[in-house]
Amino acid sequence: MTDRKNKDQANTTASDTAAEDSSGTNASKKAADTNTNAIGVDIGTSKIVTAVKKNDHIEYASHRNAFISVEYSSFTKRILNQNQIKHHQIGNSLIVYGDGAETFADMLNSETRRPMRKGLLNPNESHSVEIIKKALDDLIGSTDVQTGKLIFSVPDAPKDTPTDIIYHESLLNRHLSGKGFATRSINEGLAVVFSELEDENFTGLGISAGGGMCNVCLAYLSIPLVTFSITKGGDYLDDAVASVTGMVNTRVRSFKENGFDLKRSPSNSVEDALQVYYDDLIVTLVKALKQSVMTTSTTNKVDRPIPVVLSGGTAKVSGFKDRFEQVLKAENIPLDFSKIRVAKDPLTATAKGALMAAMHEN
Ligand SMILES: Nc1ncnc2c1ncn2[C@@H]1O[C@H](COP(=O)(O)OP(=O)(O)O)[C@@H](O)[C@H]1O
Ligand SMILES: [Mg+2]
Repeated sequence: MTDRKNKDQANTTASDTAAEDSSGTNASKKAADTNTNAIGVDIGTSKIVTAVKKNDHIEYASHRNAFISVEYSSFTKRILNQNQIKHHQIGNSLIVYGDGAETFADMLNSETRRPMRKGLLNPNESHSVEIIKKALDDLIGSTDVQTGKLIFSVPDAPKDTPTDIIYHESLLNRHLSGKGFATRSINEGLAVVFSELEDENFTGLGISAGGGMCNVCLAYLSIPLVTFSITKGGDYLDDAVASVTGMVNTRVRSFKENGFDLKRSPSNSVEDALQVYYDDLIVTLVKALKQSVMTTSTTNKVDRPIPVVLSGGTAKVSGFKDRFEQVLKAENIPLDFSKIRVAKDPLTATAKGALMAAMHEN
C-alpha cells in the first residue's frame, strides 16, 4: 500500500515542450527528456516522497517517515495484515511504519518514533537504517521504474554535526545503488531550484522548510553559489510550543497544520507561542542567509534580480511568505531579490527537482 499517490498533470516542463519539437537537435534531446527510466526521491525527516514521469505528468507517492514498535505476536501481525498496515519483524518486535504508524500509535495512546532527526538518520534509534531501507524499498517498488537513474535529496551538512552527512549519504547511496540504479545525491535546496525556477534559467533562491531543517540554495544558471541549512523546522516549532504551553507536540502539529494563520492576531496561548517560534525560525533562516551571502564573494557577480521560492511543509502555513518577506527586507541583504513565491506544491517540490535532474542525466 502506498500512503499517498497523486498525479501532477499540469507540470509539463519547458524541456518537455522542447522534446516535442522535431528538429534534429531536439530530436536527440527528445530521447533524453522522454526517458522515463528516472526517479527522484526526497528523503525528508517527516516524509519520503518519490517522483516518476508517466507520459505527460509526474506521479508522486509519499510515506510518513515514522514508526512504532510493538511486541511480536501472530495475532497482531494478522490484524496489521488485514488492515494493510505496513510492518515488518525485527527480532521480537513488529515495526509498524509509514502513515499506518500514526493510526496505530493513536489506537495505543502512544507516540510514533522517527528514523530520521534534523535531516539525517536518527542516531538515537537503533533500527533507523532498516526502517528507512524498508520504506524506500516499498515506495520505489510501487513505481514502474526499477532501473535507470535515481537521484535522492540530501540536506546541506548541519553546522553542529558536519560529519554525520557523510555517513547518511553513503549509507543511502549504497542501498539505492544496490537495487540496480545509477545513483547520486542532490542538495535539497538545489532540487527546489530545479523544480520551481526553470523559467528563470535555474537562477534564484530555493528554500525547503521541512520538518527537521530548512535547506537553502542560491543558484546561478543551475550552479549553486551558496548552500546552507539550519536545524530548525516544523519539529522545532512543535517541540518549542509544546514545552511552553504544556500541550503534547503531536497536538501542536495538528493545530499548526489545520488552519493556523500567521497573519491573524493570536487568540490563545498556543497561537501566541506559534507566532513567537515561527518568527524565531524565519529570523534564524534569514540571518543565516545574510551571513552566507556576506561570506561568499561569487554572489557579487549575480547580474539579475533573484526570485525566491519557498517550499516544504513548514512554508505551507498561511502568512509564511509575508513574514519571510518582511524579515528579508529588514535584514538588508546585499542582493536584489525579485518576486517571492510559495512553490505550487510545497510537499513535492524536492522530489520533482530530483526527478528533473535525473531525467536530464539519463
Ligand atoms: N498545511 C500545513 N501547515 C503547516 N505546517 C505543515 C502543513 N503541512 C505540513 N506541515 C509541517 O511541515 C513539516 C513537514 O514538512 P516536509 O516538507 O514534509 O518535511 P521533510 O522535508 O522534513 O520531510 C512538518 O513539521 C509538518 O507539521
Ligand atoms: Mg524536505
